[in-house]
Amino acid sequence: MTARRQIVTLADAAAVARRAAREFVRIASIAMKDKGELTVALSGGSTPKALYHLLVSDPEFRDQLRWARMKFFFGDERNVGPDDDESNFRMASEALLSKVSLQTEQVHRIKGEYQDAEKAALEYELEIRGAFRLKAGEFPRFDLILLGMGSEGHTASLFPGTKVLQEKSRIVARTWVGKLFAERVTLTAPAINAAANVMFMITGADKALVLKGVLEGPQEPEQLPAQMIQPTNGNFLWLIDADAGAKLSVGIRE
Ligand code: 6PG
Repeated sequence: MTARRQIVTLADAAAVARRAAREFVRIASIAMKDKGELTVALSGGSTPKALYHLLVSDPEFRDQLRWARMKFFFGDERNVGPDDDESNFRMASEALLSKVSLQTEQVHRIKGEYQDAEKAALEYELEIRGAFRLKAGEFPRFDLILLGMGSEGHTASLFPGTKVLQEKSRIVARTWVGKLFAERVTLTAPAINAAANVMFMITGADKALVLKGVLEGPQEPEQLPAQMIQPTNGNFLWLIDADAGAKLSVGIRE
């Protein structure tokens, strides 16, 4: 089955966050009904902060979520400890995870503090395998994976021209990002594509041209890794603000 892709352009970043929060609650309630829990992989970067804030502060969302039945994972992590300003875990923790009552075992973080990023990647893969009770060769079906996109077309830590783009069997991998002179740990494209719902949030004029390239240009994922994301049997939603969507001819404007 191919991805059910929906592209929605909204007025501004606040409208993107609000729409994302509504989708989050909708997906959570379906997952709760079906299997009594929600598994979600959070994204890093700055865009999702507004969504995280809404989920925990606005009663319209906060009170509808069964926080005790949610399991949080991460799409990627930088090679830093959990207290570092650059840590995706730290951002998610400050904006979301520390604002609600959660048990330690509900939060699965990537150990960015390990010198050896391969060790962090292997441990995280094992942690996911355990949490989803996977057999050899199986990929997890996250209920929801949140993603952002960099202004050169990377998503999670799948950067243009990096070896990890070839990965077919691992769920989690380390990746050397030359332009940042840094190791990162990331979910792989096949792991992301196995999710039940994938939701991109893209805001800002600096993303407009590359977003047009990703959504309307030829398929060249080595250049624009966000093009690798095409859920094989899941829903695929792009929430875009007017600035980022300014050059698009596809999608619905709301
Ligand atoms: C990270 C990410 C990354 C991010 C994009 C967009 O750790 O950096 O997970 O893929 O989502 O770079 O970041 P912004 O939201 O800050 O533009």
